[in-house]
Amino acid sequence: QRLLRGPLFTCLGDPGEEATPLPDTTRYLEDGAIWIVDGHIRAVDAFEALAGRLPEGIEIVDYRDKLMMPGFIDSHVHYVQLDIMASYGRELLDWLNDYTFPAECRFADAAYAEAGAERFLDEMLRVGTTTAQVFCSSHPVSVDSFFRAAQRRRLRMIAGKVLMDRHAPDALTDDTLGGVRDSERLIADWHGRDRLDYTLTPRFAPTSTREQLDAVGGVLRSAPDLYLQTHLSENRGEVAWVAELFPESRDYLDVYERHGLVGPRSTFAHGIHLNDDQRRRLAQRGANIAFCPTSNLFLGSGLMDRLACRDVGLATSLASDVGGGTSLSGLGTLQGAYQVGALLGQALTGWQGFYRLTLGNARALHLDDKIGSLQAGYEADIVVLDPESTPLMARRLSQTTTLSERLFAMMMLGDDRTVAATWANGRLVHERDAVAA
Ligand code: GUN
Ligand code: FE
Repeated sequence: QRLLRGPLFTCLGDPGEEATPLPDTTRYLEDGAIWIVDGHIRAVDAFEALAGRLPEGIEIVDYRDKLMMPGFIDSHVHYVQLDIMASYGRELLDWLNDYTFPAECRFADAAYAEAGAERFLDEMLRVGTTTAQVFCSSHPVSVDSFFRAAQRRRLRMIAGKVLMDRHAPDALTDDTLGGVRDSERLIADWHGRDRLDYTLTPRFAPTSTREQLDAVGGVLRSAPDLYLQTHLSENRGEVAWVAELFPESRDYLDVYERHGLVGPRSTFAHGIHLNDDQRRRLAQRGANIAFCPTSNLFLGSGLMDRLACRDVGLATSLASDVGGGTSLSGLGTLQGAYQVGALLGQALTGWQGFYRLTLGNARALHLDDKIGSLQAGYEADIVVLDPESTPLMARRLSQTTTLSERLFAMMMLGDDRTVAATWANGRLVHERDAVAA
């Protein structure tokens, strides 16, 4: 048992897009406290209100000069691409061939995959991200390594083996049905174990045959509580290639629809070059688009129209898409989202930004009864932000007068230095100022 004491901010619902949040959607406590028992939140309240109810001798962690929030969530990231971040000068299809595929080949090796998974999770916790939906490589060992590393740290993670049976180097290419059988073995071993879930992961339409996509649809039909993740309409050259490869489909999304891959637990990364008809079809099935702003800017893919999705009831989640993305940090992702929004005349507020990063992403992933909010009964995944993490931020925040301004300034000026500590399942899993023993 433990009590974390200090200012805290959490969302209880979608605050909306306006400068003032909708009523009852946010909660801020100046001198708050989170009571943690057995990895879960027992209660959240003002410190004074909780103080009388606490057991004798409970450990109190003092974060009174910090700001606590739910751990950040990343709905789309490739752990096997950490080492190719900031690879120069290509758009999507050349970037895949020149940088991505060679990097993923190395994950055939168990020791390399194991070390890569540990390095990735160290980095995630350093930036305050406690849950992610993760692409591994096409090698089953890359998935086993990732899940084992996440399990050791008691993290809530969703991951899957990439499926590709064409248009990729031999070392990454599955046998059409063998890749699906490998996925089924991984599902049996990992799906629903501890805090882990499996996500079926056909890379994108161009790298799977119809037969492979069909088999994936079959698995999803037989086990609808599985997740599915892939890429959709990220880049104009990609969209044209899909039209060539699948002439029978009326558009890119139709390829996935025909094979039964579009459902309420499906995440489609990017979805930049879509029309309203496609947006509506995705919305009707309850799928979500993972908005990956830093990746879209870095690869020159385009500007994702978040409000066009919202207007037709299509859920968007927020994601780093590392290695296409230039920042693993949720705060970095928010900065990109603000910039893309500013260019489209739909600037993101701090309220909506932090909502997306926490409860919004939890909802998109159907985990909003477990994570994404600071409430009794939720799993105790918490990020502790330092409003004075740099002299510049300290000065800027000393000039702000409202919570709205403070949240926005932290969102725009924050980075890994802003994360003072990260807790997962009620345990301290990262501390910025920890001194090496
Ligand atoms: N489309 C197919 N594969 C990938 C990938 O690894 N990253 C991105 N950003 N887009 C993709
Ligand atoms: Fe991606």
